[in-house]
Amino acid sequence: MADVAIRATNLVKKFRDFVAVDHLSFEVKKGEIFGFLGPNGAGKTTTIRMLCTLSSPTEGSATVAGFDVAHQGDKVREHIGLVSEKMIMYDRLTAYENLRLFGELYNIPRKALRERIDELLKVVNMEKWADHQIGTFSTGMKQRINVIRALLNEPEILFLDEPTLGLDPQSTNEIRDFARSINDDAGTTIILTTHAMAEADMLCDRISIVDYGKIVALDTPSNLKKVIIGADTNVIELDVPNITPTLVSDIQSLSCTQTVTVEDETHIKVHASGDESCDNVIDAVRSGAGQIRSIHNVEPTLEDVFLYLTGHEVREQVADKVTTKEPSSRHGPRVQSRIR
Ligand SMILES: Nc1ncnc2c1ncn2[C@@H]1O[C@H](COP(=O)(O)OP(=O)(O)OP(=O)(O)O)[C@@H](O)[C@H]1O
Ligand SMILES: [Mg+2]
Repeated sequence: MADVAIRATNLVKKFRDFVAVDHLSFEVKKGEIFGFLGPNGAGKTTTIRMLCTLSSPTEGSATVAGFDVAHQGDKVREHIGLVSEKMIMYDRLTAYENLRLFGELYNIPRKALRERIDELLKVVNMEKWADHQIGTFSTGMKQRINVIRALLNEPEILFLDEPTLGLDPQSTNEIRDFARSINDDAGTTIILTTHAMAEADMLCDRISIVDYGKIVALDTPSNLKKVIIGADTNVIELDVPNITPTLVSDIQSLSCTQTVTVEDETHIKVHASGDESCDNVIDAVRSGAGQIRSIHNVEPTLEDVFLYLTGHEVREQVADKVTTKEPSSRHGPRVQSRIR
């Protein structure tokens, strides 16, 4: 169909017996910013690599810009740009030389290439740095060059694999604004992978939440949040100055509680069901001699949606702070019932 930029059908990638991508089927519309949101090892990069023809699917098929990734690799590559997780640039070359080198790989005529590089350097406010070696740049400056490198061939579809990972807040905002402007101005379809909930929420028209190689939900950010509200799950945030393991387990043992997350030294987030849940949580804290500085029913974030759907947080390093009543497995009945 004319309005489809990418169509993946039952895509599978196995590494020996390990299934990294497990029967993914989805469509990305032309002009959309489509996000893959998931924790480390979810299969985001592996999926991107198959769509960019850098890795062959074990099973299934995909078309990108209307071309089959398995049989029309050259055509696919003509229509895409990729900002991969790892920056591939030569520190000893200047920004301009790096861009020219990559532009020559696309066989862009010399004069047109020079004009394109000048234009792109201006767009990211890097024209002053054109003749400086990349090795002298900050990570944020390097990433700006890395992103425009993927735009040299004026791709219809741009893949951004964790484009803001490791960047400071200012550079992160610049890259996000730039992604938005590429999409707005040139209508470029963007596929973005990220762990950053705020990034996905802010940029993406639709988000595919992936976990263990499977899509667990795919929708607009606002519809994803409605999953929680529709399921009668309240997101309750408590400010408690004296959090103890007993207090956490008291909240956990309430029949209304689904998950308890200790967010920091004084904040707890509870997912709980039912109209009485806030009162029940207050009673549990008070009867354990805990103090409550404040308690609120808060709007669900994508982080809450992810936790609700998968039983664990997207940031693996804090996963041990979550306690889940039901088995927190992708195979658990609660999770399964929400997938489709
Ligand atoms: N070449 C490979 N050989 C074996 N296993 C691999 C290979 N590439 C990826 N994997 C495994 O496949 C799984 C998915 O990896 P992938 O890099 O796609 O995850 P990701 O979602 O991009 O994670 P991250 O957020 O850390 O970038 C991981 O368990 C990874 O170890
Ligand atoms: Mg990755």
